[in-house]
Amino acid sequence: MKDSQAMRRDWNERAEENAYYWVESSRTNWDKEEYYRKGEEDVQRYVFPFFETKGISKEQLRQFHVLDIGCGTGRLCRALAPHVGSVTGVDIAEEMIARAKEDNADLVNCTFLQVSGVDLAPIDAESVDFCFSFIVFQHIPSKRIIRSYFQEMLRVLKPGGYAKIQVRGAPGKAPGRVVWFRGLDHFYIALILWKRWLPFPWIRRYDTVLGACFTAQELEGMLKHMGFDAIETTRETQRYLWVRIRKPQR
Ligand SMILES: C[S@@+](CC[C@H](N)C(=O)[O-])C[C@H]1O[C@@H](n2cnc3c(N)ncnc32)[C@H](O)[C@@H]1O
Repeated sequence: MKDSQAMRRDWNERAEENAYYWVESSRTNWDKEEYYRKGEEDVQRYVFPFFETKGISKEQLRQFHVLDIGCGTGRLCRALAPHVGSVTGVDIAEEMIARAKEDNADLVNCTFLQVSGVDLAPIDAESVDFCFSFIVFQHIPSKRIIRSYFQEMLRVLKPGGYAKIQVRGAPGKAPGRVVWFRGLDHFYIALILWKRWLPFPWIRRYDTVLGACFTAQELEGMLKHMGFDAIETTRETQRYLWVRIRKPQR
């Protein structure tokens, strides 16, 4: 089955089963208010400090068009909406988009759109000031698709526009400590220390939960080659590798 079909099928099933849990898996039974409050906390933690470091004022933010890739039920769009001009949330799963529209029907500056899962076709070129994605690329089972999304960001961002994106920075669920890994397009090879001392090679195919993983060096090289500037990576945890990038000014 093609990757995009598998991603859409799996995320639609997850949205039907328990959308809030599959978006934010720290609880199985979310109270709706608490779930959206956690979205505000995530935005306070990951988005606003970024604007501050870039010297973007609150007044400038009120003019911003923000794009949230893999928006789920609109948890982060909802938290961003009062501070920015407009937010567009895109997602591969129509069930997530339906839920996002329902939960955020009161917000006039939020739009939710379904996408193919490999590109940003419904978004106009040079229309976005800031692009964000959290806990999404870590589930995409192919590096080619992630590359395509970054290429699309270069198209949709305005010159000088920023993106802050989280990708998977380490293999998932290895049966021991990973001391080295190489992430390939559809699978990774890792050297594992089993029981802390026995080294053995481990090969695993990516899927729609344990998606493709990158090293910081590899990600930086790829984005530089594509033409982004101001590339900065930080590793928050093994899984959370963040990258901040800018589309060059003309
Ligand atoms: C763990 S949820 C996170 C949702 C949102 N970013 C948040 O933090 O509230 C992952 C979301 O990414 C979406 N997704 C997965 N693969 C995608 C793809 N290739 N393109 C767009 N969305 C995707 C899923 O449908 C799901 O809604």
